[in-house]
Amino acid sequence: MSILDTFKKIFKKEEEKEMKNILFIAGSLREGSFNHQLAANAEKALEGKANVTYLNWKDVPVFSQDLETPVLPAVQAVRDAVVAADAIWIFSPAYNFAIPGSVKNLLDWLSRALDLSDTTGASALQDKVSTVSVLANGGHEQVAEAYRNLMPFIRTNFVDELTFAKVNDSAWADGKFVATEDVLAQLDKQAEALLAAIN
Ligand SMILES: Cc1cc2nc3c(=O)[nH]c(=O)nc-3n(C[C@H](O)[C@H](O)[C@H](O)COP(=O)(O)O)c2cc1C
Repeated sequence: MSILDTFKKIFKKEEEKEMKNILFIAGSLREGSFNHQLAANAEKALEGKANVTYLNWKDVPVFSQDLETPVLPAVQAVRDAVVAADAIWIFSPAYNFAIPGSVKNLLDWLSRALDLSDTTGASALQDKVSTVSVLANGGHEQVAEAYRNLMPFIRTNFVDELTFAKVNDSAWADGKFVATEDVLAQLDKQAEALLAAIN
């Protein structure tokens, strides 16, 4: 590696250190998920403006208070990732015109107090900036309304600048989600609103 390349690498690392960290939660665990593909478009909207990582939440079990202590490794891992982030951005399908149960389950886990001796105490989500995009063919408004109620209730600072996307017809055949210009513009606007809330 040349000296110039080494300097470039150091400079890039310094830039990354200064940028805020946004945790993406792809609200579908499906291989090839269109919501995951929507998230990839949002990642482009944040390029050079924030560090993006994706939450690995596939091992979080169905919530039961019996499972809360001792803290399970999968639960600790999602808590740690959320605590380390400056903001979370959820990309959500609509399941039966509602928040998918799997995502609600994750948020239920994350909403629990870190110290259960005081169940009203701070959770990993306490005062965390959050936002949501919805990719579905129907039910955007219902799902958005549910998040608008839920996210402040679980004490996140909700950025209400949502992107609504639809699955393009060809995606059902070839698995490739194509974001329209309108959706890309919505993502840009949402990214700017999110950055403004954390910077
Ligand atoms: C249980 C279930 C319920 C669904 N309900 C809706 C719905 O209310 N509105 C809708 O547009 N699509 C609905 N769908 C279709 C999903 O939006 C579609 O499968 C989408 O691709 C899921 O997102 P993903 O590609 O990120 O997995 C439903 C799918 C499932 C599995």
